[in-house]
Amino acid sequence: MNLTPEEQAMLAGEEGWATRKAMEILVALGRIYGAARMVPVTSVQVAGVSYDNLGEAGLDFLKAMAEGGGRARVLATLNPAGMDVENWAALGIDADFAARQEEVLAPFARMGIVTTCTCTPYLVGNLPRYGEHIAWAESSAVCYANSVIGARTNREGGPSALAAALTGRTPLYGYHLDENRRPDVAVRVESKLQGSADMGALGRALGQKLEARGRRAVPYITGVEAASLEELKSFCASIATYGGVALFHMAGITPEAAQFAPPGETLVVTRAEIDAARQALDTASGPVDFVSLGCPHLSLREIARLAELLEGRRVRKTFWITAARPVKEMADRMGYTQVIEASGAQFAVDTCCVVAPIRGRFTALATDSAKACYYAAAKHGLQTRLLSFDEAVQEALGDTQRERHE
Ligand code: F3S
Repeated sequence: MNLTPEEQAMLAGEEGWATRKAMEILVALGRIYGAARMVPVTSVQVAGVSYDNLGEAGLDFLKAMAEGGGRARVLATLNPAGMDVENWAALGIDADFAARQEEVLAPFARMGIVTTCTCTPYLVGNLPRYGEHIAWAESSAVCYANSVIGARTNREGGPSALAAALTGRTPLYGYHLDENRRPDVAVRVESKLQGSADMGALGRALGQKLEARGRRAVPYITGVEAASLEELKSFCASIATYGGVALFHMAGITPEAAQFAPPGETLVVTRAEIDAARQALDTASGPVDFVSLGCPHLSLREIARLAELLEGRRVRKTFWITAARPVKEMADRMGYTQVIEASGAQFAVDTCCVVAPIRGRFTALATDSAKACYYAAAKHGLQTRLLSFDEAVQEALGDTQRERHE
C-alpha cells in the first residue's frame, strides 16, 4: 500500500504503541482487500461494546490500546453496551456484569471516544455529510450512512473501527470507491408500505431474495413512494440483517439514486411476500411477556408518539424503550419520560434487547423491528411477534384488539 509519510510514521511506532497497532490492523485489511492507499475519515462508530459479546479477550485488547497511548483523532461514538449505564440494576442486570461493562467503557473514554452508546449515531450529532469517508461498524447504521446520507463506509469490525478512530484513516476499498456504489440489481416493490414493521418486513422479504442470488448486492429500489427517517432506519436494519446489504439506492428517496439508471435484472417484491415475511416472524405460541421498541434506537418523534399512547395508562408486561442517552435527555425535557415511566414502561438507554444479557428471562418478545426478531430468536432463544409500533404498545398494555396478520 502507498502510505503517506505521516501514515508511515504511525506504522513505525513514532506515535506510540497503540497507534502502531491500529495502523498495522488497517494495513493488513488494506492488503487483503487490495486497497491502493488509505483515506482520511471524518467520523467513526465503534462496535464490540457489550461485554456480553466482547468477553475477556476483547476487554484486554481495549485496555492495552488505552494503556498504549491510543487517542481518537476524529469524532467517534460507540455502539450499544450490554446495559443502561446509569439504570442497570432496575433493568435486572447483575452487579458482576455491570462491573465488567463499566471496565469496557473506561478504556474507550480514556481514548477520547464519546461514550454515547447507540446504533443511531446520526440522531445524536455523529452525522457525516454526503460523500464523506467514514468508518462505522453497526450494520444498520452502515446501511443508513451509505444509503440515506450518502456517506461512504465499509462495514467495519470492532478492531478496524477503533483503528480508524486512533489513526483518522481507513483503507480505500469497497464502498469508498465509486465503482462499488453502482446498483447491480433493480427491485420493484409492488405494495404501499407504512410504518417500521412494514418496512422491516420488506427488508426481510427483499434481503432473503438478494441472499439467494449469492453475491453482494447494491439494489436499486423503485415503488416506495415515501419513507420517513424512522421507516428508513427500520428498513436499513432489516435489509442488513437478512440480506447483508450495506448500500441501496431508492428512487426519489436516497441521494445517489438519481445518478443511476435501474440495472437490467429486476426482482419484484409483492404485498403477499411482505405479509409472508411478517407472518414468518410471528412465532409466539403463547402470550408475550416482553415488549421492546427501539431497534434501531428510537428517535424523539417515536418517543413522543409513545408518550401519547401511554398517557394515563399502565403497562402489564415488561416493556423496554431503547434509545440513545442524548435523545432520552431531550425526552426528559419534553416531559415524555415522565409520562412513559408513569405507565410502568422502562427506558433501557445505552443498550437494547439484543445486546443486553437477557437470555432465560423471557419467553416471547413483541416488537416492531424485524431485526430484533431475528437476533432475539438467534441470541436469546425467544419466540417473537412482529407488530406495528402502535400494536406493540397495545400488546404491552394488554389490550387485545390488535389486528393479527394471519
Ligand atoms: Fe441497534 Fe440493538 Fe437493534 S444495536 S439495530 S437496537 S439490535
